[in-house]
Amino acid sequence: MKPQLILLGAPGSGKGTQANMLITEYGYSHVSTGDLLRSEVSRKTDLGIRISEIMSSGKLVDDKTVLEVLASNCDLSISSYIFDGYPRNFEQAVALDEEIVKNHKAVAVYFDADLDNISERLIARRTCSKCGEIYNLITKIPSDEKLCDKCNGELTHRKDDTAEVVKQRMQIFKDSITPILQHYEDKGILKRVDATRPLDEVAKSLIDVINL
Ligand code: AP5
Repeated sequence: MKPQLILLGAPGSGKGTQANMLITEYGYSHVSTGDLLRSEVSRKTDLGIRISEIMSSGKLVDDKTVLEVLASNCDLSISSYIFDGYPRNFEQAVALDEEIVKNHKAVAVYFDADLDNISERLIARRTCSKCGEIYNLITKIPSDEKLCDKCNGELTHRKDDTAEVVKQRMQIFKDSITPILQHYEDKGILKRVDATRPLDEVAKSLIDVINL
């Protein structure tokens, strides 16, 4: 079985984009806590109503809720997963080891990037509401600004991709990433890629470091 992959990195560092590549090319299953939580918000479930404001402001949802959502959406006995957006703090990293990944082989990859440069990526991001394809109005331009090239679905701009909220998300990231990286360094499973390079070059180094 392929290793479980834990993608770490700032908002906009390219985790979702490269996860889509790994799903298509290597048959990984993908679990994004951000996508799962956004789905709760758009379906207006009880949970969605409770977390809507937290997510729009760029703050983190509480650990217990996120772990429950994550655990009920992955089954490592049937597939190798990409964990995207989880863990976001040291406690979540420990919970991922103990409650989900357990005895499976895992690799954590840090998407290293200068935070000032990648903030701009988020303002220009557009995501297909139907198939989840990720575009960028500067670096990965769709033929039509409003429609997905792949499935013709509507392209949307995330509520938390505004300059003010991005600033808040980056600050939370800066405040929490060091102990997470240390945790995986101590376990000997941390790899790094330079996420500032063009998409295809990041993809190539990702495949190299995971050894696929
Ligand atoms: P989440 O959805 O996880 O957002 P994020 O971590 O902030 O990450 P993003 O999805 O913004 O960035 P990405 O790295 O995937 O970048 P992408 O590939 O799209 O979380 C959202 C919210 O949910 C949180 O704020 C919180 O409220 C809640 N939440 C989620 N998980 C939680 C948890 N575990 N605990 C508590 N709360 C949680 O790329 C971005 C753009 O850049 C795209 O336009 C893309 O085309 C472009 N791009 C990508 N790579 C490149 C490149 N190499 N060169 C040029 N452009 C590029």
